Amino acid sequence: PNITYVEFDGTAHQVEVPVGHSVMQGAVENNIPGIDADCGGECACATCHVYVEESWLPQCGTPGEQERSMLGFAATAAPNSRLSCQIRVTEALDGLVVRMPEAQH
Ligand code: FES
Repeated sequence: PNITYVEFDGTAHQVEVPVGHSVMQGAVENNIPGIDADCGGECACATCHVYVEESWLPQCGTPGEQERSMLGFAATAAPNSRLSCQIRVTEALDGLVVRMPEAQH
């Protein structure tokens, strides 16, 4: 599936991410700046915070308890915030667009 990552400054990166990988891995594997992923996908750092385009929120599933509590630590969290390591890539996410916050915390 094709995923577009948009940096805070508007720079867009469109890449192919294999099914089964997380949206966070897709960014790291393609050296896309703006997702730090300090904990390596353990849902324990909140530095893989992204904003999911509203129309894509349902396809991204529901954040779990731990993700919701970690997002509480992200200073710039919004209703469409997700931790990208907790979004598993499926064919249904082809065309997904996520935006990165100004900085990860
Ligand atoms: Fe640490 Fe997602 S990579 S919470």
